[in-house]
Amino acid sequence: MYICLEGIDGSGKSTQIKLLKKWLKEIGQKVLTIREPTPSDVGLLIRKMLLSPRSNDEDYQNTLALLFAADRTLLIEKIEKAESQNKVVISDRSYYSSMVYQNDQEWITQINKHAKKPDVTILLDLDVETALKRCEGHDHFENTNFLGKVKNRYLELAEKEDFYVINANNGLNKVQHDIKKVLLPKFGMCQIT
Ligand code: TYD
Repeated sequence: MYICLEGIDGSGKSTQIKLLKKWLKEIGQKVLTIREPTPSDVGLLIRKMLLSPRSNDEDYQNTLALLFAADRTLLIEKIEKAESQNKVVISDRSYYSSMVYQNDQEWITQINKHAKKPDVTILLDLDVETALKRCEGHDHFENTNFLGKVKNRYLELAEKEDFYVINANNGLNKVQHDIKKVLLPKFGMCQIT
């Protein structure tokens, strides 16, 4: 099973993924965690480019979209191998991030046509103001308008692609509980342990 957590910057994906990994191991699952951008050379280049003051220019965004797609291609074999070993793959972001962060969804779909689609996508939906507060002091250039747009695009995509939407404004424990509740039936369980 390929599970993906999505959400705007600061939505708490990485913390929830750590907790989720621990829980899945406790219930006897083998787990592989991955993230996008990956730690590959392409991923490192992306992270460097994201820090550029030009990162919001259209040509820069298109270059980034292609790099994100290339970086993602490096994950296909890794995910398939893990699945063949019966591992649960938990990913911090997926091609859905490109669908909401980059423009021109039709083109994004085309250049990502080989990307693996998650079996389960969980959207951590957080208020933009809270997200920006959490990101303070980090190397983020996101502003309220941009993150607001991304949040709305996420919610639109969530309807189209059947994401599970979880209110990430609640405390860490409640969010974790809600994630477990979504996943329980997928593992043939009916009660949270
Ligand atoms: P993020 O998961 O927020 O990394 P970190 O936890 O290290 O800050 O991802 C980095 C940024 O990349 C984030 O702002 C979202 C952006 N991004 C895209 O714009 N398109 C994509 O396809 C992906 C995967 C990420």
